[in-house]
Amino acid sequence: MIILGIESSCDETASAVVENGRIVRSQVVASQISVHSPYGGVVPELASRRHVEAIIQVIDQAVRESGCTFDDIDAIAVTCGPGLIGSLLVGIAAAKAIAYAMDKPLIPVNHLEGHIWAAFLEGEPLDEPSVCLVVSGGHTALYYVCPGEAPKLLGTTLDDAAGEAFDKVAKLLGLGYPGGIVIDRLSENGNPQAFHFPRSFLGKDSLDFSFSGIKTAVVNFVKKFGNPADKEKGTLGYRVEDLVASFQEAVVDVLVEKTTLASDMKGVSHVAVVGGVAANRRLRERFAERALEKGWKLRLPPLSLCTDNAVMIAAAAYEVWKRQGFSWDIFSVDAVSRWY
Ligand code: KG4
Ligand code: ZN
Repeated sequence: MIILGIESSCDETASAVVENGRIVRSQVVASQISVHSPYGGVVPELASRRHVEAIIQVIDQAVRESGCTFDDIDAIAVTCGPGLIGSLLVGIAAAKAIAYAMDKPLIPVNHLEGHIWAAFLEGEPLDEPSVCLVVSGGHTALYYVCPGEAPKLLGTTLDDAAGEAFDKVAKLLGLGYPGGIVIDRLSENGNPQAFHFPRSFLGKDSLDFSFSGIKTAVVNFVKKFGNPADKEKGTLGYRVEDLVASFQEAVVDVLVEKTTLASDMKGVSHVAVVGGVAANRRLRERFAERALEKGWKLRLPPLSLCTDNAVMIAAAAYEVWKRQGFSWDIFSVDAVSRWY
């Protein structure tokens, strides 16, 4: 089964051709970083406009590089949510047009389920119940994933997503966009124990998250000790590297502990961590350490499959097709800003 995947839920226009949910025939991602970086975050109107400009070219390139023709493609998969409605609609319109013109089935895909299946593209296919942490710019959530079933939500963020906290802190400190990568890089030369930031656990058995408190703690810190966005770096009474490393450590601590709690509660030893923040070096290191301590089989996608891409959408569509077959009328498929 050869699936053409299309992803446009936020600020990446992406397309990929994937065979049987695992063999990547091609993958194309057009990033919009240069469009949004002057604003320090994604500007929804600019994102949709850029998707319109890029989408045909991106899909065309993915099909060409796959060595397939449109005739060889069995189904079209597209992200329908959650995401920015204006951005989602561009991918959906393209997918509907191709599916209608080429008489192919269309599979709507949940973006978060896409992130989840990115963990199982390499190595053994999923054969045991797993706990999966989805940690991205828009979401931070824990899922229970069983072979052949839709992922079940165990807990989610009550306010900001972890990636959003990285992006907001980087913006506050004038470090640029996207903030996660900048903080990751700067933290390498920082002391993660230099400052203590609050870790919000929301009660002993809670699998939910909250990251707005830590963001406020960083705001209060710079009010008191100075902000590199307003001052020369040399005139600050502390090292920015130490500040961001300490912030990052607090976020990673919560993610590792909550995922451990979920795996203990569900009695599983298979754990996956996916989404843009799963590209973070310190997070990967800490999860690898915890996996050793707990005897987990840990799945971390390669960096190119952590951030938004269409390979994961085609891979998830294959799982959706295995569960439900082709059960959608092309014209009933629509964008949804919130989904499980
Ligand atoms: O999954 P993704 O590409 O888009 C969403 O679905 O949201 O995730 C983007 C998020 C951004 O918040 C970005 O700052 C964060 O992932 N991110 C990172 C790293 N790379 C991307 N956060 C921490 N460390 C990184 N290396
Ligand atoms: Zn994403």
